[in-house]
Amino acid sequence: MSFRPTVIAGNWKMHKTISEALLFVHELAPLVGDASAQVYLAVPFTCLSAVAEEVCETKNIKVGAQNISSHPEGAWTGEISERMAKEAGANFVLLGHSERRSHYHESSQTVNEKLHRACDGYLQPIVCVGETWEERKAGREHEIIEKQIRESLLDLSRENAAHLILAYEPVWAIGTGKNATPEDAQAIHHFCRAVLESIWDRETAQKIPLLYGGSVKLENASLLLTQPDIDGLLVGGASLNANSFSQIVHAHVNP
Ligand code: PGA
Repeated sequence: MSFRPTVIAGNWKMHKTISEALLFVHELAPLVGDASAQVYLAVPFTCLSAVAEEVCETKNIKVGAQNISSHPEGAWTGEISERMAKEAGANFVLLGHSERRSHYHESSQTVNEKLHRACDGYLQPIVCVGETWEERKAGREHEIIEKQIRESLLDLSRENAAHLILAYEPVWAIGTGKNATPEDAQAIHHFCRAVLESIWDRETAQKIPLLYGGSVKLENASLLLTQPDIDGLLVGGASLNANSFSQIVHAHVNP
């Protein structure tokens, strides 16, 4: 829908050194400079400032972090605060990615603390939610997703919700090559928007971009993007190659 921006976000996870990252963006920038979608790159902390500097003249590329600490500063060895990420060049941050939730036991309460830190630090949050295969088999996907959304977004003001992006990523589709059908993904996105509406109001919920993630490739990108409640994509594996990622960025065509 035209009043929501289309966002194609790449999540590099633990891939690319600084020099590899610079090669990638050098190749990507001219390929996506005229795209109608907004390109978001969630890069490792170590690449943030180099990538941010390299893309500063490409208007539709934003650079962000994949995580931040839930604490503002202090004795938290190995952690990175929102202020550190922001000053290193991040404009946005991924929160509650399923790999953080499962491998690092991040609860929705922790995601919520990080969300408030992100808002305090003027980092745009992309909050991720999604059910596991067991939960889906048991018919519990709506219950799980609603709980994750409500707990992760607790006490987010309407004003800050205006900057929120929500990503639905079924855990069973991430990095597995399996994916939800566009119709299935649309149904869940529609449900997510209804939950957002019940938290704030219709106008606020209608403005929040909803991204789909989980084994997105060029072959399924366009069909996903034609669904009315799918406003963009969160792409892992297929975001690592500049040429193929740029084709996914161009899979969105203005109506
Ligand atoms: P994938 O990852 O595209 O490799 O499935 C998506 C993600 O983890 O955000």
